Parts: sequence; structure tokens; C-alpha cells
Amino acid sequence: MRSRWLMTLFASIPIIAAALALQSCGGVGGPQTDTGGLPSVTQQFLALLGVDQKSATYIGADACAGCHGGKSPDDPIYAHWKDTVHAEKGVTCERCHGPGSAHQAAPSKENILTFPKATSPIVCAQCHGPTHDQYNFSAHVKLIASPVDSGVTNPGQSRSSACMSCHSGLFRNMVNDKGKVLADLQDDEIRWIAENTLTSAPHSATCVTCHNPHSKTGNLTDDGKEVMLRKKNFNTDTTDVAPGTTAQQFTNFDHGCAQCHNGRGTNPADSRLQASTSRPSMHDSNQYNMLMGFGGVEGSGPVQRNTAHANAPGQCTKCHMPDSRHSFTVSFDKGCAPCHTAADAAARTGQVKSEVLGLLTSLRGRMEAWAAANLGDADFWDYTSLIQAEGKTPPNQANVPIEIKRARHNYYFIIRSGDYGVHNAPYAKHLVTVANTNLDALNAPRPAAPKMSAEQQLRVIEEHRKKANQAEMNLPEDN
Ligand code: HEC
Ligand code: HEC
Ligand code: HEC
Ligand code: HEC
Ligand code: HEC
Ligand code: HEC
Ligand code: HEC
Ligand code: HEC
Repeated sequence: MRSRWLMTLFASIPIIAAALALQSCGGVGGPQTDTGGLPSVTQQFLALLGVDQKSATYIGADACAGCHGGKSPDDPIYAHWKDTVHAEKGVTCERCHGPGSAHQAAPSKENILTFPKATSPIVCAQCHGPTHDQYNFSAHVKLIASPVDSGVTNPGQSRSSACMSCHSGLFRNMVNDKGKVLADLQDDEIRWIAENTLTSAPHSATCVTCHNPHSKTGNLTDDGKEVMLRKKNFNTDTTDVAPGTTAQQFTNFDHGCAQCHNGRGTNPADSRLQASTSRPSMHDSNQYNMLMGFGGVEGSGPVQRNTAHANAPGQCTKCHMPDSRHSFTVSFDKGCAPCHTAADAAARTGQVKSEVLGLLTSLRGRMEAWAAANLGDADFWDYTSLIQAEGKTPPNQANVPIEIKRARHNYYFIIRSGDYGVHNAPYAKHLVTVANTNLDALNAPRPAAPKMSAEQQLRVIEEHRKKANQAEMNLPEDN
């Protein structure tokens, strides 16, 4: 698995991550002669500048202040910037926006590098080389084409907005900052994003999706550092992601990672399970729901939702970004300290994953055995679009008892989070128990567990997860 070797790779990068990689000086577009000890402007950065800016020269941040100086409450950029580490270290406006003489003479968006092109990670990579290298290995640099592609071909559809708000980092900025949706297509910026996401801005999340480039925000890291985060990365408020909230509402969730990594409309109420039978109601991103422990069918007994992991300082970033590592891969050595040693964390992870995979395999075996005996086909316990994907005609869903519908919800709830119990072992195991209790009520058989290693079980289950994703691509959004 890719994350394994990344883990080793980044564990060996020395902690000079904050050290700035020096790059060669650019020759076109009015190169700065004095960079104040900062790395020079790069060729890749200069290549972002439009023709009207290529021959401009540098005028200094104070010259921008006259017009962007905070005189209007709508444009307090200079005043805010002045207060940042960037200003202190001499990272002036023009290091990110390019030389300003032409713009000063005749202000326009054509002669200054601005949104959307200014959001390229290349702007930040001029100085944050090591961070950019780590980020380049992360999943966030990639794009799942289809949800974004639908934005290009059918730009007016709400489905596209709903997908792009988490699958395009730039679109997310528009949603967060300006409350825009794809229906605002007459807007230049929205149109640029819709048309260029696949080619020019292919990132799920870019530097400025998570960081405000101009301003302190007060959303501190777990060790109290101000790193200009747009959203806080610790939040135990579950009201916004309570089961039953619509998918659209989930995209407003106020949490650095969970704004995208949430279940997006997961709903375990019986009424919803009866009404929505084409595909699982949670998206492939329900990690926050899993961590906090809600969104599965929980039964009537006591539920342990809130674990030490949910309360780990920084939550997601504690385990996925130790030392601000931007690959977002988990580190057993740094990410799990001081609570576990690396060896303990690795052993527990292996143990919990194989246990949960075993439980899921047995659960699925029971649902298959019940369906074969009662509906005539082992696949018929599943959601209709997933049965259709096998070339079969699904049974009338009125003939599928609520117990099966509850069990399959919990089955998918666990596999779509993708961590197989590591985020919240008590909750994942509880959901399996509740599923089995429901199957007991149907007297579903307990076939002997197939002889498979944890790796083989994972392969089978991931195959199932992939099918659920494909089903989601092909169906109109229903929530
Ligand atoms: C003489 C006044 C003036 C000065 C000086 C000036 N700007 Fe501007 N700037 C403007 C105006 C007016 C606009 C809006 C242009 C438009 O919308 O067509 C603008 C737009 C911008 C934009 C695009 C905003 C957007 O909505 O996309 C950026 C970025 C920008 N300026 C940065 C700078 C920087 C950096 C400097 C200093 C190097 C600077 N400006 C100096 C007046 C100025
Ligand atoms: C560290 C890089 C960086 C620095 C320094 C910086 N900017 Fe920006 N700026 C950006 C990026 C990236 C965007 C587009 C993303 C966004 O809107 O957050 C942007 C957006 C803008 C906009 C458009 C805002 C809008 O509503 O679309 C203006 C105007 C602007 N900057 C002016 C300035 C001025 C003036 C300074 C100096 C006082 C400055 N910037 C310093 C990176 C920077
Ligand atoms: C011209 C160089 C330069 C550019 C371009 C640049 N930075 Fe920085 N950045 C710095 C320096 C220098 C520091 C101070 C870090 C240090 O001293 O280790 C810094 C600090 C930061 C910090 C930490 C802030 C803090 O309070 O510790 C963040 C976050 C950051 N930059 C994000 C960005 C982003 C996002 C971009 C692109 C939009 C960007 N930077 C572009 C040079 C740059
Ligand atoms: C609330 C944010 C959010 C919204 C809205 C959203 N997604 Fe996602 N989606 C994610 C995240 C985060 C992941 C990655 C989860 C992971 O890797 O575990 C993901 C993963 C996926 C995957 C799995 C990709 C793979 O790795 O194989 C598909 C397919 C997908 N999304 C399609 C869509 C479609 C189609 C829409 C619109 C109907 C959509 N998404 C809307 C957040 C969202
Ligand atoms: C998905 C969100 C996300 C993206 C994308 C992202 N960052 Fe960060 N960044 C964070 C978080 C969260 C932290 C604080 C981590 C922690 O708790 O230490 C951080 C920390 C930092 C710091 C401070 C490091 C330190 O040791 O003080 C810098 C600098 C930085 N990021 C730059 C960047 C740059 C440059 C990019 C793009 C190449 C980028 N970030 C992309 C979320 C993100
Ligand atoms: C703007 C939306 C967005 C934000 C914010 C975001 N992510 Fe993601 N993340 C995604 C998407 C979309 C993917 C899947 C990308 C792909 O596979 O193409 C993803 C993938 C990942 C993966 C890899 C999953 C895998 O299948 O291997 C991890 C780990 C991850 N994100 C962690 C985080 C953390 C930690 C944060 C907060 C610091 C965060 N993400 C913030 C959208 C986001
Ligand atoms: C206690 C540490 C910890 C915390 C807290 C944590 N994670 Fe994880 N996460 C892990 C581990 C360990 C794995 C890898 C499991 C494995 O071995 O596959 C993982 C896996 C993932 C994956 C990959 C799943 C896939 O699709 O294959 C994503 C995405 C993810 N986490 C996102 C998040 C987000 C978002 C948060 C915050 C809501 C978070 N994690 C909180 C430890 C943590
Ligand atoms: C803030 C402290 C903290 C951090 C950080 C933390 N854990 Fe845990 N973890 C715990 C506690 C407490 C338990 C429950 C221990 C128990 O009940 O025996 C636990 C349990 C676990 C379990 C087993 C759950 C079970 O029920 O058997 C796994 C697996 C696990 N952690 C993996 C990790 C990994 C991997 C990391 C780092 C990526 C990590 N943890 C980070 C505190 C933490």
C-alpha cells in the first residue's frame, strides 16, 4: 500500500522541514534583485503570470497599501497581512502576486496574478519546498475526475456543485469565502474553475484551501501555533453532522478536515432506510462520523462513542500530520505518541483491523446466506444499484426486511470509512454487534467463516467499497 512506504520515507526526512529550499533566480518578468534573504522567484511562478504582467517591475508592499490598505472593510488585506509571519519575514504581496507596476498604473485583474491562478501551490513552493514536496505525495494533490468532470459538461447542475465543493480545492474556497455555487456560472472565477479544474488546478485541496494567505485566523494548531488555518482542526460539536442532515448542509461543516471528510447525509433512521434503497446513504468519506461515533444504526443498548482518539488534541491532524507533515499519511512513531509507542500502535492497528475485517466478512456471509435462502440469490441483501451492477434484477425492496436494511447500513458505514476500526474501535465493533442482533431476529444462519487471511478479506471488501463508489457516480444525488 502506498501509505506504507510514504510513512517510512517521510519518517526519515530530517526536521529541517521549516528550512527553506533555495531555488534558482528567474530571468523574465522583472526579477527581484533583492529578495531579503528569502529564496528567489522561480521560473514556474513566473510562468503563471499573464502577458500584461510579464514586463512589470516590483513596487513594494507599501505601494499596494494605498488601495488595498484596509480603508474599506471589504478590502483590509494589507492591514491583516502586516500582522502575519509573512510580513515579518519580508514575504511581500508581490512574492505571491507578481510585480505590480503595471497594475498600479492601471488596476485590473489582468495585470496582477489573482484568484484562481494565484491559488496554485507553485506560488507557495517558491519558499516552502519541503512542505510542497510532502504535499505532492498526498492524495490531496489528485482529483477524482468524474465528480468534477460532471461540472464541466453539465455546469448548471446542482449535483456538480455538491460534488465539487469537496472534490475541487478551488471550488471549496469559493464556497467558503464567497458562498458561491456552480449555478453562479456567469461569474468569471466560477467559470474558470469549472473549465480548468481538470487541466490547470487538479487538486482536491490546495495550500490556500486550508490556509488563509493574508491573515491570522486564531484557528491554532494543537500545540498553539498560528498557521493561518481557515478552519479549526479540533471540534467535538456533532450537531452539524447529526444523522439526517442533508448532504448540502454537510458541506458547510466547520472543521478543517471534516468539512470534506464527513458522511455527507448518512441517515440510519428506519424511515430513511426504508425509503432509500438504491445505494448506501453515507459517502465514502465518513471518517469524522466514525471518529466521533455517530451515523450508524445503534440499537437500543448503551453506545460508547467518544474515545480517546476523538479527544486527541488536533483530532485528525494529531495522527495524520505530526510535525506538520503534509503527506497526511499516518505516522506510528510521532502521530501516536505519547499515548502509544510506535510498536504498540502498529500492533494494535494490525490486531483491530484483522478483527474488524473478520467480523465484516462473517456479517456479509450471514446476509448472503439469508438472501440465498429467502430471496433466491446471495446478492439480494444489497442495495439495488449494486445488485444491478452484477447484471441482476433486484428484489422488491418491500420484501427486504428492515433488519437486513439496518445490517447493510452498518456494513457499509464501516467499510466506507476505510480504517476498519482504527479510528474508533468500540463504535465499529458496536455497529457489527447491532447488525448481528438484527440478523439473529431473522434467524439468519451463521455459515462457517471462509478461510481467508486479513489481506484477502481486505481485498474482497475493498472491491465492494469500489462498487459502492461507482454506483454513486452513476446515480443522481438523492440527498
Ligand atoms: C492605484 C490603486 C491600486 C494599487 C496601488 C494596487 N491595486 Fe490592486 N487593485 C486595485 C483595483 C481598483 C482592483 C480591482 C480591479 C478590477 O476589479 O478590475 C485591484 C485588484 C487587485 C487584485 C485582484 C482582486 C480580485 O478580485 O481578483 C489583486 C490580487 C491586487 N489588486 C493586488 C495588488 C497588489 C499585490 C498591489 C501592490 C503590488 C496592488 N494590488 C496595488 C487597485 C490598486
Ligand atoms: C503568501 C502569499 C500571498 C501574499 C504574501 C499576499 N497574497 Fe494576496 N492572495 C494570495 C492568494 C493565493 C490569493 C487567492 C486566494 C484567496 O482569495 O484566498 C490572494 C488574493 C488576493 C486578493 C483578491 C481577494 C479576493 O477577494 O479575491 C487581493 C486583492 C490580494 N490578494 C492582495 C494582496 C495584497 C495587497 C497583499 C500584500 C499586502 C497580498 N495580497 C499578499 C496570496 C498572497
Ligand atoms: C517568498 C517566500 C514565501 C512564500 C512565497 C510563501 N511563504 Fe509562507 N512562509 C515564508 C517564511 C519565511 C515563513 C516563516 C517560517 C519560518 O521562519 O520558518 C513562512 C511561514 C508560513 C506559515 C506558518 C505561519 C506561522 O505563523 O508560523 C504558513 C502556514 C505559510 N507560510 C503558508 C504559506 C502559503 C499557503 C503560501 C502560498 C500561498 C506561502 N506560505 C508562500 C515564506 C514564504
Ligand atoms: C462532504 C464532502 C464531499 C462531497 C460533497 C462529495 N465527496 Fe466524494 N469524497 C469526499 C472525500 C473526502 C473522499 C475521499 C475519502 C477517502 O479517501 O476515504 C471522497 C471520495 C469519493 C469517491 C471515491 C474515490 C476513490 O478513491 O475511489 C468517489 C467516487 C466520490 N467521492 C464521488 C463523489 C460524487 C459523485 C459526489 C457528488 C455527488 C461527491 N463525491 C461529493 C468528499 C466528498
Ligand atoms: C488539507 C489541509 C492542508 C493543506 C492542503 C495544506 N496545509 Fe499546511 N497545514 C495544515 C495544517 C492542519 C497545519 C498544522 C498542522 C499541525 O497541527 O502541526 C499546517 C501547517 C503548515 C505550516 C506550518 C508548519 C510549521 O511547522 O509551523 C506551513 C508552513 C504550511 N502548512 C504550508 C503549507 C503549504 C505550502 C501547502 C501547500 C503546498 C499546505 N500547507 C497545504 C493544513 C493544510
Ligand atoms: C477540500 C476538501 C478536503 C479537505 C479540507 C481535506 N480533505 Fe482529505 N481528501 C479529500 C479528497 C477529495 C480526498 C481523495 C482524493 C483522491 O483520492 O483523489 C482526500 C484524501 C485524503 C486522505 C487519503 C485517503 C486515502 O484513501 O488514502 C487522507 C489521509 C486525508 N484526505 C486526510 C485529510 C486530513 C487529515 C485533512 C485535514 C488536515 C483533510 N484530509 C482535509 C478532500 C479533503
Ligand atoms: C488515532 C489516530 C487517528 C485519528 C485521530 C484519525 N486518524 Fe485517520 N487513520 C488513522 C490510521 C492509523 C489509519 C490507517 C488505517 C490503515 O492501516 O489502513 C487512518 C486512515 C484514514 C484514512 C484512509 C481511509 C481509506 O480511505 O483508506 C482517511 C481518509 C483518514 N484516516 C482520515 C481521517 C480524518 C479526516 C480524521 C479526523 C476526522 C482522522 N483520520 C483521524 C489514524 C487516525
Ligand atoms: C491521545 C492519546 C492517543 C493517541 C494520540 C492515539 N491513541 Fe490509540 N488509543 C488511545 C487509548 C486511550 C486507547 C484505548 C486503550 C485501551 O482501551 O486499551 C487507544 C486504542 C487504540 C487502538 C485499539 C482499540 C481497541 O479497542 O483495541 C488502536 C488500534 C489504536 N489506539 C491505534 C492508534 C494509532 C495507530 C495511533 C496513531 C496514529 C493512535 N492510536 C493514537 C489513545 C491514543
